[in-house]
Amino acid sequence: MDIKNLLVTGGCGFIGSNFIAYLLAGGHFNGKIINCDKLTYAGNPANLDAINNKFPDRYVFQKVDICDGDLIRELFDRYEIDAVCHFAAESHVDRSIKRPESFIQTNIMGTFNLLEAARAHADRFQLFHHVSTDEVYGSLGATGYFTEETPYRPNSPYSASKAASDHLVRAYHETYGLPTTISNCSNNYGPFQFPEKLIPLIILNAMEGKALPVYGDGRNVRDWLYVEDHCEAIWSIMQKGKRSETYNIGGNSEMENIRIVEMICDIVDEIHPAADGAACRKLITYVKDRPGHDRRYAIDFSKLQKDLGWKPKETFGTGLRKTVEWYLENGNWVEQIRSGDYQKWIEEHYGS
Ligand code: NAD
Ligand code: DAU
Repeated sequence: MDIKNLLVTGGCGFIGSNFIAYLLAGGHFNGKIINCDKLTYAGNPANLDAINNKFPDRYVFQKVDICDGDLIRELFDRYEIDAVCHFAAESHVDRSIKRPESFIQTNIMGTFNLLEAARAHADRFQLFHHVSTDEVYGSLGATGYFTEETPYRPNSPYSASKAASDHLVRAYHETYGLPTTISNCSNNYGPFQFPEKLIPLIILNAMEGKALPVYGDGRNVRDWLYVEDHCEAIWSIMQKGKRSETYNIGGNSEMENIRIVEMICDIVDEIHPAADGAACRKLITYVKDRPGHDRRYAIDFSKLQKDLGWKPKETFGTGLRKTVEWYLENGNWVEQIRSGDYQKWIEEHYGS
């Protein structure tokens, strides 16, 4: 595979911006990256300021909505796109419960527009990589793992819209022979994550002495994947993965939510203690559960490990500490994204 012009969608979001930095600053890719992002509340072009300055000839940002099929086709023509790594999505489960429509539009129709543009350029098109989630598999009991063969059983509007997009990608391979790969991964954490998601929300609230909201009994389990490990896995699939295949990606770090909150409290007590010396754990507040809250996710990524030799490098302990330190050192980033829509959302969701 010799990709010259890679379209990354949603590259101003959390995982997309880490992925672009991994490819360019990490020296893993020699071609050009075209980052197409609508800049919703979750997109922040400043995440890539350093990349923009360092790689002016090999990095282009285009503010484009993937729901606009004409603009997407234009982008494919103008930049002679020969591969796509598709991150752009509405990604937050709680928002999908309150207002599902944009999830249906972006996650399903947006993916459809990208697939159509790729199909129209079949002569030069090399790969459509679709970034998806383990949430499409539904919820596990106390034991067992999601494998690539687990039947889809999405429970939220978010996961249902991602499931639909996965099916579309698969169908475009089966019907039109489009070269595709799909990855379904567990919960990411690390730098640049929007603080509506559990880990950054708890870190910032703990540093500011605010309540730490834990849904239900706090015993729901997620598997946690450090974002840089995720980027490495995606690139490995794009380079060496078998076309038309799906790969699960996991972090080997299953954890109950309450345990994560306690671990964050302990790190914050150590590196950013409260002025009055009060322990952060006192801020833990159990709140009403999320409707349809999946009980447990756990992922079997042995296919990726066996076939492509990938496994996560970060442990949850080291990754979490690095993440807390990053939020402590990047107060300006936090302030910037806490304006406008973000503030409105927090007020609606948690009260002012
Ligand atoms: P994010 O919400 O941080 O970023 C999403 C990005 O997509 C933003 O920059 C936003 O502006 C952009 N976007 C949204 N709608 C758009 C549209 N219509 N057109 C163009 N751009 C649009 O999301 P993330 O956490 O970085 O997730 C990226 C992808 O990875 C998503 O597809 C998500 O489903 C998947 N995923 C995320 C996780 C996780 O833990 N964060 C885990 C598994 C899979
Ligand atoms: O599993 C992959 C998915 O992980 C991705 O597909 C999604 O895009 C991503 O948002 C994430 O979904 P979750 O719903 O698991 O992530 P979230 O950070 O919202 O919640 C993690 C767990 O913590 C979940 O069990 C709900 C709980 N929670 C969350 C928040 C925001 C709380 O207890 N309190 C909170 O305030």
